[in-house]
Amino acid sequence: MKKKIVAGNWKMNKTFNHAKELAQQLVNSSYDTEVNMILFPPALYVSELVDITSESSIGIGLQNVSEHEKGAFTGEISAEMIASVGAQYCIVGHSERREYFGEQNQVLSKKINQLLLNKITPIYCCGEILVEREKGNHFNLVKSQIKEGLFHLSSEEILSCIVAYEPVWAIGTGVTATSDQAQEMHSFIRGVIAEKYGLEVASKISILYGGSCNPENAKELFACNDVDGGLIGGASLVAEKFISIANSF
Ligand code: PGA
Repeated sequence: MKKKIVAGNWKMNKTFNHAKELAQQLVNSSYDTEVNMILFPPALYVSELVDITSESSIGIGLQNVSEHEKGAFTGEISAEMIASVGAQYCIVGHSERREYFGEQNQVLSKKINQLLLNKITPIYCCGEILVEREKGNHFNLVKSQIKEGLFHLSSEEILSCIVAYEPVWAIGTGVTATSDQAQEMHSFIRGVIAEKYGLEVASKISILYGGSCNPENAKELFACNDVDGGLIGGASLVAEKFISIANSF
């Protein structure tokens, strides 16, 4: 069974007190019990948020991880450290990491290895920039992101991963992919995974949509066959909006 997931990527937002307050509001809220809610606060707050959410079913993750195991990498955080504070998830290859920090598929595949070694679930992001879509190259591009980032994994390993399709032109822009565009790409991604790992494996992997997902459009997006939830940026910073999205399945 694919899991229904709403993941909140807080990016570089919120002070410590505001972050604790938002986490507490979500812990106190009620939402569809079949939905897995995961929060991605700034790394500095992760340990505290693991504590705040410990009695709830909310999961906590990091927004990034080092591709290295340990050692002299100033400023970096290892997968082992993430596991050691009780976080269970990590975003890999968000388009902002790809664009502003030059992260490429090959490095991202190493980050995934580190996470899996430490039993942390990666959310692997893919998605095209607008010019690629306009050139009609979006399917090829996403296919190579999936292949180069994930296809070194065994079936068992890829089943421990979540994929997020985030068209870059939709992130933080207020422009959302239509449900047809999302479904078309999600079904394509599942097909690409099925070609290598078979239909059964592909059918069990959750594929999230991200890019200006909000309480108004979540229902229509989540109703698509191959959309198993959302990776939410801006709208995850406000408890009411995020809860409303969690109730949109
Ligand atoms: P957005 O961000 O919801 O603010 O568009 C999504 C994301 O970057 O994961």
